[in-house]
Amino acid sequence: MAEFDLILRGGTVVTEADTTRCDVGIRNGKIVALADDLGTAAAEVIDATGKWILPGGIDSHVHLSQPSGPGIKMADDFETGTRSAAFGGNTMVLPFCLQQKGQSLREALKHYHAEADGRCYTDVSFHLIISDPSEQLLGQELPALVQDGYTSFKVFMTYEDLRLSDLELLQVMDVGRSTGALVMVHAENHDAIRFLTERLEREGRTAPRHHATSRPIAVEREATHRAISLAEIVDVPVMIVHVSNREAIEEIRRGRQKGLKIFGETCPQYLVLTESDLDGLNMEGAKYVCSPPPRDQESQDACWQGIEDGTFDVYSSDHCPFRYEDAAGKLAPNGRTSFRWIPNGIPGIATRLPILFSEGVVKGRISPQRFVALTSTNHARAYGLYPRKGTIAIGADADIAIWDPARTVTITHDLLHDGCDYTPYEGMEITGWPITTIVRGVTVVLDGELVSNKPQGTYIPRELSEFVSRPVMLS
Ligand code: URP
Ligand code: ZN
Ligand code: ZN
Ligand code: ZN
Repeated sequence: MAEFDLILRGGTVVTEADTTRCDVGIRNGKIVALADDLGTAAAEVIDATGKWILPGGIDSHVHLSQPSGPGIKMADDFETGTRSAAFGGNTMVLPFCLQQKGQSLREALKHYHAEADGRCYTDVSFHLIISDPSEQLLGQELPALVQDGYTSFKVFMTYEDLRLSDLELLQVMDVGRSTGALVMVHAENHDAIRFLTERLEREGRTAPRHHATSRPIAVEREATHRAISLAEIVDVPVMIVHVSNREAIEEIRRGRQKGLKIFGETCPQYLVLTESDLDGLNMEGAKYVCSPPPRDQESQDACWQGIEDGTFDVYSSDHCPFRYEDAAGKLAPNGRTSFRWIPNGIPGIATRLPILFSEGVVKGRISPQRFVALTSTNHARAYGLYPRKGTIAIGADADIAIWDPARTVTITHDLLHDGCDYTPYEGMEITGWPITTIVRGVTVVLDGELVSNKPQGTYIPRELSEFVSRPVMLS
């Protein structure tokens, strides 16, 4: 019998710490050998000469099969979403399990597990979205679920059905403090958005670009400041997600200077899109409606600075796909007459890594090691998956993406294999592309082709975050 199930030969292995020319030996889904020359004694050998071998991407901010309002269906379920993720060099995704008002978290989880079970091409785990923090949820259900491996939850400061009051934010953060779970915060001021939206509608300014007008930087900065202040009051680490601009970044830096544990996430849309993308003819701007909105060149530069200097710990897609047909309201029964009705979110699960590789690594803004930290290792550390995932090391899961660092690709929607009908990045020229994706030793995508139509990804319960000190209660 061969010593290995799979050998990756001749490639250059990149981790968050090193870049080393070496072969990778895989057995039973784990990395079991790293050496200069492992020979060819394996059931399967992949020639990676001239290629880079990276830890598979972990996308810790994606939305799949999430209910999104009357008449609107998310464009990706677990099958199409994780398939697209695998084509984009990812081996694991962390979608959200959304609690509907009045629903228990366990009920919500049952639904998402049923949606995901047997349908995932990558591994998967869930963050919880807390929309209805009852006494029972805060006191019993949520702490028990943290023990069961759901070690992160997201809270919203906006969206009518999701937002929590400051009191509720404090209460949920307090469960983060007592359990060691990581609290993720969507920071935008709800009342300010409502005020501006109503004023814009009165003035007849309802085109998609006014989605951005209704959510200016001050809306995000104020809420980021408040979220960080509430975290300070509770004395708990928080992750500020999808940060779009300098003023919000400054709030994070200020919090850290005070000694608070504030983590930050940004996304591709804040690095390469601007609000002028929302200006398209007719309803074309609907293709770029997400919250916070893409901003201007200065904000892009600030986000790049945060990527380079370590202000951002993680870089995620915030993949939240709606078909353009739906978003633009072509199918809506009465027409959608205001930006207010365009579902918030854009697709990006397959394009996340190539965009940062091309714009970041190839253009010399970040090192390959920093790329790995931002796209994989730090996600594993933040969300309780390290060192099983997020690195190439003996004993780790064999979750690997093989990259051709020189391949040039023009992004077109048909390359992405998702369930959407467009990509906001259509036509973008990319250098560097993930060609082969291996999940726990199983080759899912080989040289740009899906190997099997049988999804083999699995659910992974998580440990507590390495970013958060262990609370006394669980130690
Ligand atoms: O517009 C966005 N970001 N939609 C996804 C939901 C969220 O807030 O992350
Ligand atoms: Zn259900
Ligand atoms: Zn959000
Ligand atoms: Zn999101």
